Amino acid sequence: MRRIWLVLLPVGCEPFDAGQYAPDPGYPEPFDTGDVEPEPAIDCADTVEFNWVNFGKGFFTESCNGCHYSETPFRYGAPEYVVFDTSGDVWAHKGIVLAVAAGETPSMPPNGGTTDLDRLKLQIWLTCGEPGQ
Ligand code: HEC
Repeated sequence: MRRIWLVLLPVGCEPFDAGQYAPDPGYPEPFDTGDVEPEPAIDCADTVEFNWVNFGKGFFTESCNGCHYSETPFRYGAPEYVVFDTSGDVWAHKGIVLAVAAGETPSMPPNGGTTDLDRLKLQIWLTCGEPGQ
């Protein structure tokens, strides 16, 4: 009886070990981007100045706040904490706003509709503008 127990022991232990010593995840292979051009960097010295008054308010009211305004009656599932009532609200979410609404393949608004020019203005505003303005 004792001998069988010893033989089974290593097998029985294996699931516990697996959790304790997670396998080395390794490092991702360098990704070949082929012909994809990097996003052109914005040279702030060479751009028009954008701010909440001359761009942001109109853009967010028209493109985003149908779902994201704090008091919109129906948010279509937009998260409660993502509101764009004021310039400060936008700046507070700057990183994610740029990630979802600027560039060539925006995911916000969900059904698209923003122009290339407006997305460029958004990027210039949040890159070169005064935070909160
Ligand atoms: C038709 C409604 C609608 C419009 C218009 C809209 N959104 Fe959204 N937004 C959503 C919904 C629904 C979610 C939550 C689901 C998701 O993240 O895809 C969301 C989520 C977000 C988030 C959080 C994303 C995350 O991963 O946490 C940000 C930031 C955002 N939207 C920004 C914007 C911006 C900027 C605009 C305008 C350019 C915009 N949205 C327009 C419905 C909308």
